[in-house]
Amino acid sequence: MPLPKAELHLHIEGTLEPELAFELAARNSVPLPYADEDALREAYRFADLQSFLNLYYELMAVLRTERDFEDLAEAYLARAAAQGVRHAEIFFDPQAHLARGVEMGTVVEGLWRALGRSRERHGVSTRLIMCFLRDESAESALATLDAAKPYLDRITGVGLDSAEVGHPPAKFREVYEAAAALGLRRVAHAGEEGPPEYVTEALDVLGVERVDHGLRSVEDPALVERLVRDRVPLTLCPLSNVRLRTVDTLADHPLPAMLDAGLMCTVNSDDPAYFGGYAGDNFDAVRRDLGLTEERLRELARNSFLASFLEDDEELRARYLAEVAAYTFPAA
Ligand code: ADE
Ligand code: ZN
Repeated sequence: MPLPKAELHLHIEGTLEPELAFELAARNSVPLPYADEDALREAYRFADLQSFLNLYYELMAVLRTERDFEDLAEAYLARAAAQGVRHAEIFFDPQAHLARGVEMGTVVEGLWRALGRSRERHGVSTRLIMCFLRDESAESALATLDAAKPYLDRITGVGLDSAEVGHPPAKFREVYEAAAALGLRRVAHAGEEGPPEYVTEALDVLGVERVDHGLRSVEDPALVERLVRDRVPLTLCPLSNVRLRTVDTLADHPLPAMLDAGLMCTVNSDDPAYFGGYAGDNFDAVRRDLGLTEERLRELARNSFLASFLEDDEELRARYLAEVAAYTFPAA
């Protein structure tokens, strides 16, 4: 049995495996410029975040109907459950779909068909977090929040993703204020490729409760001190950092030093279909390449539930934390 964990940094569009991409392309008569799954996998060699995003947005063309989004989420939840994920807070990128003529309702209702039955079918509780694309305008983000208003009973929070450098958090002050006024939780990608100042700005200007990635925070000792003091969770994605060349190799990842510094780190998969692994694979990889002890792995799992947006079900959080405390690691 794998270590129970919550996944807090997962883009549902980033779970589109080549096999499902080709299946949906055929179902929707959408041409793909790749001969087959292997040819597509060959394209998974990224130089940086932007080179990944180009492929990520290109492949979204196959997602058109509620059933497509349902199938996508269903496949993720089955995989996640098999790797010990007990709770998943799932990002989606509505602007990337609205721009192709796919409506907000198609995306949210389609995802919800799978999420709504997930506890029963997979034993995985879920939350949905709507992300704004930071390389789109602030006005577009506001219009997206407006389009989401009929679906707010299904949406727990807002996030900020896509190309980071040159798009600082402050650009989205107004939409984050509006989201907060609607009772939505707030997170944002910061410090993935962007500088530590973006992390500070996400906290100060957007009022985020968690920082997605936050890796480059380690370059600013005063920021680290603040993140430790305020117990701000960071949703790290080690295999993603390797594939997007944010770190040279996994062995160079600062996760052990970050834990030693007292940062509240969690380990997540980001875009598992593209980066070589789901949540459990990320845990296995950091255990292997960074030599994390069982107690460190247990800390990461505990942090994931503590940092999750389960304030509306503290009983469930307590049950998950008890599972983590009682977990026995299999003999190596
Ligand atoms: N969208 C999907 N994955 C992302 C990542 N790792 N960083 C920023 N935006 C993303
Ligand atoms: Zn991400």
